[in-house]
Amino acid sequence: MKILVLNGPNLNLLGKREPGLYGTQGLDEIMSSMQAAAEQMGVQLDCFQSNEEGALVSRIGEASGTYDGVIFNPAAYTHTSIALRDALLAVDLPCVEVHLSNTHRREEFRHTSLTAPACVGQIMGFGGKGYVLALEGLVEYLQSMKED
Ligand code: DQA
Repeated sequence: MKILVLNGPNLNLLGKREPGLYGTQGLDEIMSSMQAAAEQMGVQLDCFQSNEEGALVSRIGEASGTYDGVIFNPAAYTHTSIALRDALLAVDLPCVEVHLSNTHRREEFRHTSLTAPACVGQIMGFGGKGYVLALEGLVEYLQSMKED
């Protein structure tokens, strides 16, 4: 099983960026914990971060046929990007959306996710741990799909 992990704008600054909201772990550290969990599950992960919407759209567009699913924190693009939502719908790969913070407890403009309706599920509010929770959820989802 092969899963693509995508992280959007400013997530490369995790650790230094608003630590009260996002925690003190850097993205590399969070991705390493996820890699360790994936190894235990026998799952292969490829991780990609970009500050550019088009680069994320392209990665999703190329994912079909190579990956079984996607774990995605679109960051600020969550609330603005029809292009990312359309990319997810176009490839029709199961995607789990992750947010470190609980966006519903924050400013109103963060309450809407344009990408979530194109996902099988969403995990938020558990910091970096959310990525591992998303991985567990997505792997179980993919296994149940194979059994059907
Ligand atoms: C975020 C929440 C977004 O609203 C914000 O723009 C981010 C991070 C999160 O992981 O909590 O950049 O996606």
